[in-house]
Amino acid sequence: MENKAKILIIDDEEVVLDSCAQILKGAPYQLATASDGTSGLTLLQEFRPDLVFVDLKMPGISGFEVLEKIGEIDPTIVIVVITGFATVSSAVEAMKKGAYDFLPKPFTPDEFRLIARRGIERRKLMLEAIALRKERDLLREQFASIVSHELKAPLSAIQQNIFALEFELEKRLGPEQKEKFERIKARLTDLLKMINSWLRVIAVDIDRLKEGFVPLSIAEPIANAIESLDTLAARKNIKIVSEVGQDLPAVLGDKVSLAEVFVNIIGNALKYSPDGSNVRVTARQEEQTIAISIEDSGIGIAEEDLPHIFDGFYRGKGGQTVAGGHGIGLAVARQIVEAHNGSIEVESEVGTGTTFTVRLPIHQS
Ligand SMILES: Nc1ncnc2c1ncn2[C@@H]1O[C@H](COP(=O)(O)OP(=O)(O)OP(=O)(O)O)[C@@H](O)[C@H]1O
Ligand SMILES: [Mg+2]
Repeated sequence: MENKAKILIIDDEEVVLDSCAQILKGAPYQLATASDGTSGLTLLQEFRPDLVFVDLKMPGISGFEVLEKIGEIDPTIVIVVITGFATVSSAVEAMKKGAYDFLPKPFTPDEFRLIARRGIERRKLMLEAIALRKERDLLREQFASIVSHELKAPLSAIQQNIFALEFELEKRLGPEQKEKFERIKARLTDLLKMINSWLRVIAVDIDRLKEGFVPLSIAEPIANAIESLDTLAARKNIKIVSEVGQDLPAVLGDKVSLAEVFVNIIGNALKYSPDGSNVRVTARQEEQTIAISIEDSGIGIAEEDLPHIFDGFYRGKGGQTVAGGHGIGLAVARQIVEAHNGSIEVESEVGTGTTFTVRLPIHQS
């Protein structure tokens, strides 16, 4: 069955409507016409056009209003405004308001056909892009669900059983066997960590994240992050010096994912710094933002790595030589910070140290 593209023309001049119908006769379009804005909008709801021609100057509601209403009803409908002589400025204005093109009166049949064809093509591309994005989201969700059911769940079950087995055999295990258990457990923990980070990169669903935003003090997720890194810091004898004011203005966000941002950045500072060094975490107000800096005196990041460290699965040369990882932590951190309308910056010098600064807008209540 043929799927004809639909064109709606809204114009108060009878001759314009007639001549358009005449021009498109035999063309592969389905045509509807209306002689004022209000009936045009009513017709639009049931006709669902791909392309609308709207006269800017009509009695009753104006072409501009029609333009805005169509954008509210369905922003993928392509709109071309029909303008009289010497109204270039209103055409420009209309295009700012979302019109795709304009057709100056009087127009030749060829001009009209050309613009109609371009408009229909535009609509097709828009719908294709939307379908593609939907498909990609679906794939992402499916992949996340496969990783989580087919990989994560069985591995977690194995981990549980290993723990149980080790506990049952505890008294009978020699040192070498105990050592083997430790290795198995460590590898399993790494695998699970990796899967969890993959899931994070694939599944940071920004819209869902935003739904749970509440005003909060940045001190809280920072403190939670530092607490969860206690063991790692102690193992490397690194002191995390925190200078975070308790009375900073609130930010709007999600506590758990913000804590994840700081775990990833402070965790890196610990990972890529020598034993016995210090990591400094500060938070202060800078104009309308809260700026949180994490400063280490570790290995630093080479200049050629700097533009890529926030990409998923990228690891710096220096980083690879001193510690394991998957190149995911900063990618996740950036996604979360951007979902909060914030930014992350880095300054680093090889051999001297690195400072990451996260900026989050202050909540305007
Ligand atoms: N504080 C730091 N000092 C030196 N290099 C760093 C620091 N933070 C990040 N890097 C570099 O940036 C790279 C990317 O960091 P990211 O946290 O994304 O991944 P990762 O630490 O390698 O792995 P993981 O996914 O386990 O976090 C690291 O591999 C490292 O080379
Ligand atoms: Mg990391």
